[in-house]
Amino acid sequence: MTPHPTINRDRLFAQLEALNAINRQPDGSCCRLALSDADRQGRDLLVSWMKEIGLEVRIDRIGNIVGLQSGAASTAPVMTGSHIDTVATGGPLDGSLGVLAGLEVVRALAEAGVATKRPLAVAAFTNEEGVRFQPDMLGSLMYAVGFSLDAALQSTAADGTKLGDELVRIGYAGKAQCGEIRPHAYVELHIEQGPLLDRLGEVLGAVEDLQGISWQEVTVRGVSNHAGTTPMSLRHDAAYCAAKAAVFVRDLAKQMGGSQVATVGSVRLVPNLVNVIARQATFTVDLRNTDETLLRDAESELANFLQDLARDEQVSIDARQLARTEPVRFSDQVLSLIERAAQDLGCPIRRMTSGAGHDAQMMARICPTAMIFVPSVGGISHNPKEHTAPEHVDLGANLLLRTLQLLANQ
Ligand code: HGY
Ligand code: MN
Ligand code: MN
Repeated sequence: MTPHPTINRDRLFAQLEALNAINRQPDGSCCRLALSDADRQGRDLLVSWMKEIGLEVRIDRIGNIVGLQSGAASTAPVMTGSHIDTVATGGPLDGSLGVLAGLEVVRALAEAGVATKRPLAVAAFTNEEGVRFQPDMLGSLMYAVGFSLDAALQSTAADGTKLGDELVRIGYAGKAQCGEIRPHAYVELHIEQGPLLDRLGEVLGAVEDLQGISWQEVTVRGVSNHAGTTPMSLRHDAAYCAAKAAVFVRDLAKQMGGSQVATVGSVRLVPNLVNVIARQATFTVDLRNTDETLLRDAESELANFLQDLARDEQVSIDARQLARTEPVRFSDQVLSLIERAAQDLGCPIRRMTSGAGHDAQMMARICPTAMIFVPSVGGISHNPKEHTAPEHVDLGANLLLRTLQLLANQ
């Protein structure tokens, strides 16, 4: 019996290393912010690898890159992929593992002379992280739902740069319509980015659902004044309000329990000087929950708190929604194929929830979709210390290969 094809682990790691060497920071962080020069270099490298293995490369109007195996055009392909943009303090696997493992699967099957009924496609979606431009998962949102292209192109970074201008500048304002290739199914390999598998000493996760995400930008406008001469009772201190809000959301998450999480990740003060009471504080609030009703409760609790705070401190407080996605349930049909493939590999696999957002949550809107997780050591991610044992990466990529093969022969 011919042995089952397997991925070439050394080649996968070599490509990961080549991609992650782009703009690597002194502390080892991967820093390829969406549509930056570093992202362009990563995109160019990815496109060259796609062409090397004979994939037809399509760039769509939001810059999504899809490498498509030539096959019966009428047969919907099975798609895999993820993102190659990173946060500023990114690790070596978040997103890039899913894209490069997908490429490796296509290559390994071709080298083994294994054809599938359906063609395979590998996608790298634009701006998954959403740290430079919001909302996050913008490329896959456009791919799946067709969010207004104009609104997406108008998305503006903190430095005033527009997403659409950056797409043109880096040469990835493609012509293909977003979502023109409707997949038969989509499977994404990703690191867990949380502590569960690592703590349990388990290696594989079949991701069955994903949290709802609410991102807001809150701006507090108070009054600047002298830090030494202004009595405490006469202050309208924007920094104090931002701090109160950060404590409030943390206490709210602890009191709600369950899967509720809350994060104030970014705070900008004006004038940001040691001896001046801040007149303005702009901060972000990231709320997540697997239950939509509870997520809405958390949002309204925060809104009520901010209203009271504005009254008590005599400041103005405005909140702007940056991103909002409901919890997603993935496809049981795809999940059972992932479990079957794991069984063939002789490896246990656990059903689990994703705390992080992923492009798969958008693809689930247009085709049967699920994800495969491999462990993150210590649950660390969005951090240069992000790590997954090489043998776990290898196992995850081989599970992806077998799952894609099963789906592509449907
Ligand atoms: O924020 C997230 O969950 C993802 O990393 N973009
Ligand atoms: Mn990711
Ligand atoms: Mn991420």
